[in-house]
Amino acid sequence: MTDGPAVMKELRAIQRANGYIPATALHELSDRTGTPLYQIQGVVSFYPHFRLTPAPPVEVLVCDDLSCHRRGAVALLTETQERVAGSAPPGSVVRAASCLGRCDRAPACAVNDVVVSRVTADSLMDAVAAAAAGTPIRADAVVRDPRTLDVDPYGAGERYGAARKLAASGDTNALIASLKASELRGMGGAGFPTGLKWEIVRNTPGDTKYIVCNADESEPGTFKDRFLLENVPHLLVEGMLLAGLVTGARRGIVYVRHEYEAQIEIVEHEIATARAAGLLGTNILGSGRTFELETFVSPGGYICGEESALLEALEGKRAEPRNKPPFPGTHGLHGKPTAINNVETFVMVPSILAHGPEWFKAQGKNGAAKEALSFTSEVRRALRDSRGGCIGHGRNLRKSQLRAHGTAVRGATPSVLRLRRL
Ligand SMILES: Cc1cc2nc3c(=O)[nH]c(=O)nc-3n(C[C@H](O)[C@H](O)[C@H](O)COP(=O)(O)O)c2cc1C
Ligand code: FES
Repeated sequence: MTDGPAVMKELRAIQRANGYIPATALHELSDRTGTPLYQIQGVVSFYPHFRLTPAPPVEVLVCDDLSCHRRGAVALLTETQERVAGSAPPGSVVRAASCLGRCDRAPACAVNDVVVSRVTADSLMDAVAAAAAGTPIRADAVVRDPRTLDVDPYGAGERYGAARKLAASGDTNALIASLKASELRGMGGAGFPTGLKWEIVRNTPGDTKYIVCNADESEPGTFKDRFLLENVPHLLVEGMLLAGLVTGARRGIVYVRHEYEAQIEIVEHEIATARAAGLLGTNILGSGRTFELETFVSPGGYICGEESALLEALEGKRAEPRNKPPFPGTHGLHGKPTAINNVETFVMVPSILAHGPEWFKAQGKNGAAKEALSFTSEVRRALRDSRGGCIGHGRNLRKSQLRAHGTAVRGATPSVLRLRRL
């Protein structure tokens, strides 16, 4: 049997080639890989992104989650259904969908799997017409922030300083001590101490270990990981490399939601740059250490963000959460010790090592630390009107304010608040 990522990649390739996954292709894949057909069927039927029947000529998904709902998704859905019924090829489909990962550019839609954002009813119909004519649909462009984020210790200077230092010294104890002293906690939600997680993986015996980045980010209204993937991919690659050098893992995987196609390209470009500079691959910077890094495109589904479900998906299975314990630190991908962290967690590590743990702790108050938050301008306005000012301009944000205003925002112009203080 081929490994999990290979099965998923094959399924994606079959769907790309045919527009869906024909039964004959499933039989062929089963025979070729020695994977029982029922297992492959079970996998394909689990993920909403895989199709077992031919795709409609035009399929429009209108996101009606949080941000898009507030930007008129319901009316857009109704109008588009009417207009498509009158103009697009028979069999075309328009339906509501959950978050498409463009919450800062609502309303967002997908037309034949291409995500388009900040649409109007007219611009959406242009995309529908392109799909019906078989011409390319203009996808979202990534606009990178020209500023250096505070979380980037390198600016225009030489990058990967923390990894170079560790490759030369081999002092993994010092790195773990710094992370523990910084009190960095996982940014994916559960807040587990990162230094302790990496120490557990390092101390668990085994020749094969993994580093996994959770870039599934499917929570409606959330786009902070996407922003980091676009703007500081070098910090993600360096954070994962540091994790590999510390724990002894030789392979890392960046698990990214499939709607982040442009961001996947950005990360892959950074991986290639790092590899060309001798920072990935074998004998990293002459240290004798190996660390390979690759991306994995999620077959979709909110539950894939839960770490054990994500590992199941990586193994080519249905993304059904595992019972815990054991935890991934000791029994992770393929049952091997695995450090799985959120994008932001990895991104934070180089600056902690460059500036020191006390610097990191000084970024927050009362035990809180630096943290990236996704806001729309509605929330920004509400915060500006209140006592604490706007976090985007480097002021402090009180949780009580966020709670008070986060549920009571008014207005209708969501947009990205670039987190200058990140
Ligand atoms: C239903 C569910 C969805 C989740 N989705 C995400 C996600 O999209 N991204 C993420 O990093 N963590 C997500 N998590 C948390 C992960 O399970 C895990 O705690 C995290 O990836 C660990 O990384 P960290 O220690 O850096 O936070 C989710 C958890 C649950 C229960
Ligand atoms: S893209 Fe619509 S809520 Fe996220």
